Amino acid sequence: MPIFPDIKENFSLHSFNTFHIESTARYFTEVNTIENFRELIASGKLDESPLLVLGGGSNLLFTGNFNGIAVHIINKGIEIQNRTADAVLVKSAAGENWHEFVTYCVNEGFGGIENLSLIPGNVGSCPIQNIGAYGVEVKDSFHSLEAIDLQTGELLVFSNEECRFGYRDSIFKRDLKGKFAIWSVTFELKLNPVLHIEYGAIKQELDAKGINHASISDVSTAVCSIRQNKLPDPKLLGNAGSFFKNPTVDQKFAEKLLESFPKLVHYPAGNDKVKLAAGWLIEQCGWKGHREGDAGVHENQALVLVNYGRATGSNILTLAHRIQNSVYERFGVKLDMEVNVI
Ligand code: FAD
Ligand code: EPU
Repeated sequence: MPIFPDIKENFSLHSFNTFHIESTARYFTEVNTIENFRELIASGKLDESPLLVLGGGSNLLFTGNFNGIAVHIINKGIEIQNRTADAVLVKSAAGENWHEFVTYCVNEGFGGIENLSLIPGNVGSCPIQNIGAYGVEVKDSFHSLEAIDLQTGELLVFSNEECRFGYRDSIFKRDLKGKFAIWSVTFELKLNPVLHIEYGAIKQELDAKGINHASISDVSTAVCSIRQNKLPDPKLLGNAGSFFKNPTVDQKFAEKLLESFPKLVHYPAGNDKVKLAAGWLIEQCGWKGHREGDAGVHENQALVLVNYGRATGSNILTLAHRIQNSVYERFGVKLDMEVNVI
């Protein structure tokens, strides 16, 4: 039975966002086939109301009720498209859970995304901000995606280059924002991958276990363990991961900052640019562990804002603005939000 046109009204989004903010969508529906989606487009409903494509809700902050239609994409399926001696093309439906997809690939011995283990959310959202962790980004293994044009219902293919990936960025956050629903993503994974274990914490985890020749599975396990120790579990404490991006500044500006703040945590970012650790900047301004009502800054990771229970999206946003202002006043550095504020 197709789920559409089962459109619910005034639908609670509490369990559809990992901040666990109370918010309702004027309309809500789930879509699991292209035909469903095309019916929805043909109904004209999307012309009348603003649209929010919803995945796992792990990179969203609702600051009020959403006066439009939230479309939850729930299509499923993973298929191997092509296999050579050293690589495999694997296509996943957008509605698959990201970590379950990574686990499938790790178990099959397909390498390339093991460092991205345990990132919340769905496969269809991974290209939106080019998810990244522990020295790897999704663009490194991304082959192509299929996306539905929300005006015409047409299914288009985007190559890696066409997605214009950058740090926590893609064309879907810019020129094509709100214009497409990603329907599937295809990855090119390696059968004899070069593992990325240069990230300090991964090396430490492997060393502690006496692992000298790590497998894909060892790296995935190490990453899961690091993440479980460092980041709050959204099931227990509402959050959306890093609230801000790590800012990139000119080399000259970074050198000047380093004169005043020799402990500034920074990394080369190429092209005379330097990336600064936003968590360090925020912690230096005294925010780490700060709490205002139920909105707070996580006590172990200052880049993560948390909801202790009944915070509203506006409470979290107000705190975020105060943090941005204080970091700017102290360091002259502008923090951009990573989380999508709705
Ligand atoms: P949602 O939150 O549902 O949506 C995010 C955005 O994508 C919205 O604008 C939405 O409209 C749009 N969207 C969703 N699905 C589609 C689709 N199919 N087509 C078109 N648009 C769509 N991110 C990292 O990069 N690295 C990390 O290490 C990381 N760690 C995290 C840790 C925690 C504890 C949490 C809570 C979050 C973390 N994140 C991290 C952020 C988040 O997991 C990612 O951004 C993830 O890709 C969001 O997926 P989602 O399905 O939950 O997207
Ligand atoms: N730091 C502090 N205080 C803090 C937090 C961090 O001083 O409270 C400093 C530490 O020196 C630390 C450095 O900042 O060494 C970097 O911290 P961490 O390794 O925790 O990584 P991050 O830069 O804070 C980024 C991503 C994460 C990703 C990790 C691991 C962004 C915005 N965030 O965090 O992604 O998991 O690296 O690769 O790039 C996300 O995007 O939601 C996310 C969680």
